[in-house]
Amino acid sequence: MSKRLSGKRILITGAAQGIGLAIAKAVVREDASVFLIDRDDVLLREEAEKLKGGEYHVGYIRADITDAKAILAVVEQACTEIGPLNALINNAGANVFSEPLETTDEEWNRCFDINLKGAWNCSKAVLPRLLEQDGGVILNIASTHAFTIIPHTFPYPLAKHALLGMTKSLGLEYAAKNIRVNALAPGYVATQKAIDYWNSFPDPAAAKAETMRLHPGGRIATPEEIAMAAVFMISDECPFMNATCLTIDGGLSVQQHPA
Ligand SMILES: NC(=O)c1ccc[n+]([C@@H]2O[C@H](COP(=O)([O-])OP(=O)(O)OC[C@H]3O[C@@H](n4cnc5c(N)ncnc54)[C@H](O)[C@@H]3O)[C@@H](O)[C@H]2O)c1
Repeated sequence: MSKRLSGKRILITGAAQGIGLAIAKAVVREDASVFLIDRDDVLLREEAEKLKGGEYHVGYIRADITDAKAILAVVEQACTEIGPLNALINNAGANVFSEPLETTDEEWNRCFDINLKGAWNCSKAVLPRLLEQDGGVILNIASTHAFTIIPHTFPYPLAKHALLGMTKSLGLEYAAKNIRVNALAPGYVATQKAIDYWNSFPDPAAAKAETMRLHPGGRIATPEEIAMAAVFMISDECPFMNATCLTIDGGLSVQQHPA
């Protein structure tokens, strides 16, 4: 086993499935200890129990990142169970897609609560711990929606744009304190979220085929491919990478149009 993350104690949100779970598996393989949270209690327990058993520590608890008070208690528990945290991965997020003029206040608030405020709630709870530890890392799982727009996905990209803004802002605020804050911007990734997106079209198979056709390499990412980049970004292999964003989309966002 390689030990690229020995000594790292990482809190990961939205870790019961998809990209968050792939990151959890990848970081424990690299010898990190993890504390996993998700609002899906059943799935979280099932997956976290499978991860236990190695030499590393795995803790978990059901929590909703939109509940700032609960998150404070979660961070306290995480530090007690796996030791003082030195990394946070803000991964939990959810699609909220609507036609702009039909977007209700409830949809708007849900979108920003989950995709922006939740990451802030966790960052606000973890940052004092990182300052006590004389440094650490926050990695926000943003999206190519943080700098490009797919029509008919309003207001989700707005929240991801803001998450990228928060990444830059916190990265600058705490750079002198040895805290790095970065974002990772996946394009399409093969998770339940992508399946739900295709299922929102009248012909899901055609929608999926169209997604593949748009990609220069004819395919989308696996969650494991995103997780490998996350391992690098929270490791000590990139100590001067701060307040920036790494895009992983197979080249989709720089393409003017498909061939
Ligand atoms: N799948 C993609 O194509 C894709 C592309 C770009 C960015 N992303 C981003 O990556 C992240 C993970 O996406 P995914 O595809 O793995 O999604 P997913 O739906 O497969 O998993 C997300 C997990 O987050 C949890 N979650 C959602 N809201 C929560 C909350 N309020 N509190 C706690 N847990 C919560 C869900 O229960 C779920 O287990 C998200 O931030 C998403 O925006 C995904």
